[in-house]
Amino acid sequence: MKNIIKAAKRTLIKNRRSKYTLPTNTKLYPAQWNWDSAFIALGYSNFNLNYSIKEIETLLSGQWNDGMIPHILFHKKNLNYTPNYKAWNCGEKISSSGITQPPILACVLRLIVERQKFSKKKIKRYYTHILKIKKYLEWFIRYRDPKKTGLISILHPWESGYDNSPLWDKSMSKIKIENNLSYKRKDNKIVNASQRPLAIDYDRYVTIKNHFKKMKYDPKKLYYKSKFNVIDVGFNSLFLKALKDLDFLLENIDKKSLSIKKYIHLNEKKLVKLFDSKKMTFKNKDLKNNFLTEIPSITNFFMLFSDLKNKSVNKSLIKGLKKYCKNEKYLFSSVSSKHKSFEEKRYWRGPVWINCNWIIYQGLKNKDKKFAEIIRKKTINLVEKKRFWEYYSCKSGLGMGTKNFSWSAALYLDFILNRS
Ligand code: GLC
Repeated sequence: MKNIIKAAKRTLIKNRRSKYTLPTNTKLYPAQWNWDSAFIALGYSNFNLNYSIKEIETLLSGQWNDGMIPHILFHKKNLNYTPNYKAWNCGEKISSSGITQPPILACVLRLIVERQKFSKKKIKRYYTHILKIKKYLEWFIRYRDPKKTGLISILHPWESGYDNSPLWDKSMSKIKIENNLSYKRKDNKIVNASQRPLAIDYDRYVTIKNHFKKMKYDPKKLYYKSKFNVIDVGFNSLFLKALKDLDFLLENIDKKSLSIKKYIHLNEKKLVKLFDSKKMTFKNKDLKNNFLTEIPSITNFFMLFSDLKNKSVNKSLIKGLKKYCKNEKYLFSSVSSKHKSFEEKRYWRGPVWINCNWIIYQGLKNKDKKFAEIIRKKTINLVEKKRFWEYYSCKSGLGMGTKNFSWSAALYLDFILNRS
């Protein structure tokens, strides 16, 4: 165990560049990714707080003037990734992608502040960081829920972080692939193509991106014009938790915001309605095409992470989660293995992801300690047996995707060194 802790730290350090950390040092992801960085910062906080803060600051330095923090920051201008910085052609101080990812950053900063028992005075040292996060979350409310319905839309599957999930299949099938699309993928040359998205999916990802580029990434237009506009249960759950954590941080710097508090209330009320506790189903809404989908994805259970006030909903969620993973040896499959879209090896369509386990654990730890502890131990065992892979088979535990994966190392450290 001690050796593996050392190996996890080493993995992070090796993936670290001067101000930020790559998702892996293999060639698959040669830039800084938004939610990866948040998980990585949390990992560092268990042994090097300076690295942790630096990671967060570098991520914040890529914030656009309107408040968005992009999903990729291309600190180095090379062409080693598709779509690369030229293909996106945006970003302000730092070249970036033109879309975002789950705002886990807010949750991580709160955890760090609480675990390190920062005094109010010390929290105030992070005043500008907290205000930048506020601007980021307000950006979501302003541009991803312009009609103030209480639920946030994502406009590209990549914004969810669970890029290739069957959650998006029906919506994606409606997208007409751009004529004469020209780009060259690199991912499926580095990792076995059978584990990566199909060509038809990638064509659609790039089609949406090109459409955004034509609209100069104007957030006012994108919501109405995007070829993809989905209200996702998992994303809204992460967003709600981020808002609650922001609210905590704002209180501590004496900057409490009534509008944030109001949105928390509205978001929670609307989110709960997407869960049917009798049928144990969750509904995603496709706003572009006006339909609902019900896919049994682990991300639906991120609702536990939001710390909903309603105890009976939390109880049903836990019951549903136990049922969801009943037959699996390795937890949690990203999509239920009973569902027709399940694929053991293709990413986000079945494999186990350490960040999903961590999110679920955090949601469970104050609601069902016993179950939370099982998840913690199973996750630790899996990583200790197989090391730091991007994802793992829920059937055999086989490590897949890229090796030396930063968030698997970071969250392993967090699981083993920290129970809070
Ligand atoms: C993949 C994942 C995404 C992650 C990125 C970098 O695109 O789907 O969640 O942020 O890789 O690790």
